[in-house]
Amino acid sequence: MLRAKPNPIAPAEPTAATESASTDSLAESLAEILPALERFTRFEGPDGAAKRTAWRRALDGPLPEEGEGREAVLAALRDVVIPNGLRIGAPGFTGWVTTSPTTVPAVAQLAGSITAAQRWWATPGNFLEVLALRWVARLVGLPDTFEGSFTSGGSTANLLGLAAARQHAGERLGVDVGLEGLAALPSPRVYASTEVHHVVHRACGVLGLGRKALRLVPMDAARRVDLGALERLIDTDVRAGATPVAVVSSAGDVNTGVVEPIDAMREIAHARGVWLHADGAYGGFGVLDPRVAPLYGDLTKIDSFAVDPHKWMAAPVGCGAAFVRDGGFLARALTLEPAAYVEMAPTDTGDLGSPFDQRGEGNIDTSLDHSAPARGLAVWALLKEIGAKGMRERVVRHHNCARRVAERVRAHPALELMAEPVLSICCFRVKPAGVADEAALEALNEKVLLAVRAKGRAVPSHTRIDGRFAIRPCFINPRQGLAEADLTVDEVLAAARELGAI
Ligand SMILES: Cc1ncc(COP(=O)(O)O)c(C=O)c1O
Repeated sequence: MLRAKPNPIAPAEPTAATESASTDSLAESLAEILPALERFTRFEGPDGAAKRTAWRRALDGPLPEEGEGREAVLAALRDVVIPNGLRIGAPGFTGWVTTSPTTVPAVAQLAGSITAAQRWWATPGNFLEVLALRWVARLVGLPDTFEGSFTSGGSTANLLGLAAARQHAGERLGVDVGLEGLAALPSPRVYASTEVHHVVHRACGVLGLGRKALRLVPMDAARRVDLGALERLIDTDVRAGATPVAVVSSAGDVNTGVVEPIDAMREIAHARGVWLHADGAYGGFGVLDPRVAPLYGDLTKIDSFAVDPHKWMAAPVGCGAAFVRDGGFLARALTLEPAAYVEMAPTDTGDLGSPFDQRGEGNIDTSLDHSAPARGLAVWALLKEIGAKGMRERVVRHHNCARRVAERVRAHPALELMAEPVLSICCFRVKPAGVADEAALEALNEKVLLAVRAKGRAVPSHTRIDGRFAIRPCFINPRQGLAEADLTVDEVLAAARELGAI
């Protein structure tokens, strides 16, 4: 008879769990860091993040063999991490397209990280994820039939749109690309203007289309894609045996905020059976301003849409959203297929014997994530707090900020407007009378920008327009109004004066 060997790692006696990580004292721990967080959100005093050598020295160290305990971590958070945090929420910060969350979404995210840690299971977090996705769709004017998912950001939201497009292109040729791979898709091509955000280049690479599959279409004088060139490029590619996968339209380009002619691009795409994806990661919510809404055309007819709650909605960073008109393409592209190790039965909406008996609402096959936080909780919290009206007012106010900068720039002889604002970005530069040399203007504007940022009251970023360096404030921060628009121009002028340039 075979005798079982004793298991060398089984404990001899049952013992209670011993764990070095704290599983209690939440209120006490939060109380320890809350005053520092509150102080940070006032953005007062010098910007500690710039003192990199000091905070690095305080934080760097070898992997501790013995943990230092809860108090040591809280002290480091309170004294080093929080006070030296990145001030992207400061009212004067207009760099890139990013900001920090307002109070309620930040608090909701904390609540969600503790109570709704897995968004697929039937908890309020799961339900609010689905509800918030619906609300975002409604807000931007997409019908309830669009399906999708919250994502980690605009990068992933665009990736999802293009994954669905790739599936669609394959199925037109009778191939399930998600299952079979790309081999049966001859020379796949994606079309976008030269201004398209580089996450689209990356998505083409990740999806196996290849970055070279992205065909960059020149722009017309209004800095929108040249529609004739787009048509010609697709038709030439098709004649050469290529497979057009998608046309990507920027619903608010990241450089100047131009909204491309989405309707016309869709018509060109659809006339050839090609998918139209719109990247509204930055400018999707711009449609809430009735003055520019007509530029977006009929969004109900596009095939997929990316929009980023962690930008203009100021949800905590880590929250984008992708919507697809026919969610089946996305689901077939991303399907997990049945797995034995987890109960995937879709839920009904009644009570459960246990929340672990069925998964919650939402389609796990329209997401890239398996384990995932309930990102929609913060979005729901913000929309419940300020409503569609609050978002509309924010967007209109920010559009007005960009127009205010443009007015001030036009009125000043030593400033040059480099692109008329469409949404909430206004690109301009210092151009002293008599200076026409591009290299000199570039050097001057770079110096001005660094000088402005070093003072820290106004923090714009820059871009290039037709190769020329431009100072580029982008207003999406809920803490901003016309005063910050004026501040940005005043700070640029002050720096130019201090540099003796004007
Ligand atoms: C137009 C556009 N698309 C995509 C992205 C990428 O989004 P994320 O940074 O959330 O990945 C951005 C970011 O600024 C953007 O402005």
